[in-house]
Amino acid sequence: MKPLISSDLHARSEHNQSKPKLMFFGDPHGDLDPVIAAVERLQPEAIVLLGDIQARRPLHDELRPILDLTEIWFIHGNHDTDSDADYDNLWGSELATRNLHGRIVEIAGFKVAGLGGIFRRKIWDPQRPIEEAAFQSSDAMRRTMKREERWRDGISRKHRSSIFPADYQQLLQSGHSDILVTHEAPAAHPHGWQVIDELAETLGVQLVVHGHHHQYIDYLAEGLTTAAAPFRAFGVDMGSHLAWPTDPQNSTESEGPSQDLLDLAAEVFGVAAQDWLGKPHKLFDGQTPAAFATEGGSEKVRSILNAIRNGGVV
Ligand SMILES: [Fe+2]
Repeated sequence: MKPLISSDLHARSEHNQSKPKLMFFGDPHGDLDPVIAAVERLQPEAIVLLGDIQARRPLHDELRPILDLTEIWFIHGNHDTDSDADYDNLWGSELATRNLHGRIVEIAGFKVAGLGGIFRRKIWDPQRPIEEAAFQSSDAMRRTMKREERWRDGISRKHRSSIFPADYQQLLQSGHSDILVTHEAPAAHPHGWQVIDELAETLGVQLVVHGHHHQYIDYLAEGLTTAAAPFRAFGVDMGSHLAWPTDPQNSTESEGPSQDLLDLAAEVFGVAAQDWLGKPHKLFDGQTPAAFATEGGSEKVRSILNAIRNGGVV
């Protein structure tokens, strides 16, 4: 085990990761405090929320403390159409124009493509050929509906977070992109999709980042992809974030816990983070969280930190 040598975890985090270009945030599900705290601390050029935002007030009101600090972008998730409030606080917000779904936008020097929502069989089962989808577009679906069946004179609220073939194909034909953000996961995930990989490869992206599964996954570190894969892939847990580009000094676990884990510990414990990371704990087989994470257990340490932050007793 390599002990933490910094006497000030905050200082170390701030020094190594000051002003990242881009930060991607996992599904907030109504709690935007971790987003605000991380942006105030790290001051990225821009952020992307990876869906399932479910803002409790209009999104621009929720994020008002950071509106002038960073550029805010998002994709929607399946839960953003759960209720009228979920829908209106996103699509009715002053930030509604920042939805990346179905398009490519240059953000902080990167071309970022977005595909929000999820696949639903009633619209398109992506394991079947795209031309066999029940509806090619939301307009095509709307035309089959009687007026009284419509929601706000359009398709149902629920299917406004379904992925239609037309949205996918529009993105597929949009040219080169550096990064693809999705709510659904790529094929290497147990619940992922080959069509996400095909989209990523057609766009020529170097990076895919997704939400939805509430799990931090570095696909390369976990052995789910290889260094020869055409793109790197990350899943981001709810309440957590990924900074990009990653700091090469902190990208391997052999030198200690990853930077984002240190950031998360600092977020949860403040000045006591170092004490917590350096104290043996039965949940980590009697090892310290820092040692446990360094030896390949970072996912468990991250889950427990998230549980503590969300009010669990550990
Ligand atoms: Fe989701």
